[in-house]
Amino acid sequence: MNASTFTKFRDLIHAHSGIDLAPGKEALVSSRLAKRIRDLGLSNEMEYFDYLSADQSLNELTRLIDLMSTNVTHFLREFEHFEMLSEMLHELWKNGPAPVKFWSAACSSGQEPYTLAMIVHEAARAMAIDPRIVKILATDISTQILRQAEEGFYNTRELEHVPPEWQKRYFQKSPSGTGYQISDSIRSLVTFRRINLSHSPFPMQGPFDAILCRNVMIYFDKEVRTKIVGEAYRLLRPGGYLLIGHSENLSGIDTPFRSVRATVYRKAGAA
Ligand SMILES: C[S@@+](CC[C@H](N)C(=O)[O-])C[C@H]1O[C@@H](n2cnc3c(N)ncnc32)[C@H](O)[C@@H]1O
Repeated sequence: MNASTFTKFRDLIHAHSGIDLAPGKEALVSSRLAKRIRDLGLSNEMEYFDYLSADQSLNELTRLIDLMSTNVTHFLREFEHFEMLSEMLHELWKNGPAPVKFWSAACSSGQEPYTLAMIVHEAARAMAIDPRIVKILATDISTQILRQAEEGFYNTRELEHVPPEWQKRYFQKSPSGTGYQISDSIRSLVTFRRINLSHSPFPMQGPFDAILCRNVMIYFDKEVRTKIVGEAYRLLRPGGYLLIGHSENLSGIDTPFRSVRATVYRKAGAA
């Protein structure tokens, strides 16, 4: 891919997703587009760019963003966050049940919100509380990955981080033996929705007790990151938590969040 074609795609992708492709990513973009270009019967990248520009429905643009997104995730990823949220639930429920709202802001194929739902079930079981008082909103920009997340079907390898007793409690083995289906009790706590983090203000209702916005801000420039952090602050309850990915930080972003420890931030105010 030559420099001027790369710049065209780069600007388009940035305008619609906030994803900031640094120079040097030409080969990556090219390889992710190749199959789509072939499937459409087009002969090169500029033809595909023209096809995208002519598509009034924006469906092809959504596909392009799907192709550019990196969806790597796994169950129990960065488990310290889930331990912390489990402690938060125990603390919150020590005097009885109270409703809780979480937001998994770039949920990929669902492992993050489903891990959260398993943590909720475990805490609720230990405290004899109905877990359905917890609501988990799970969002992503990619419609294709959201479909996969809603389906909640994972192959055996994807469950390797899940303890065997949780596998038994929260998954059903498929009759063919090829994978596992997430149970209805877990699935029913989670609502999936498409939200583009680069387009603020976000349309959903807070306040949330915690927002997980992990391993996605690395793809954005400072302006988009600043807006996301501002929106997270607005949508959290006082004392609520923002959790970000292990390779991310809020340095250089002007925000009232207080850092609790690496990757954990708290909104000021009563707990
Ligand atoms: C690497 S995954 C992170 C998944 C999960 N949060 C974790 O930490 O395991 C990044 C996700 O961000 C999503 N994403 C990328 N740009 C986005 C945007 N502008 N708005 C919402 N989600 C976006 C991708 O589709 C992808 O599913």
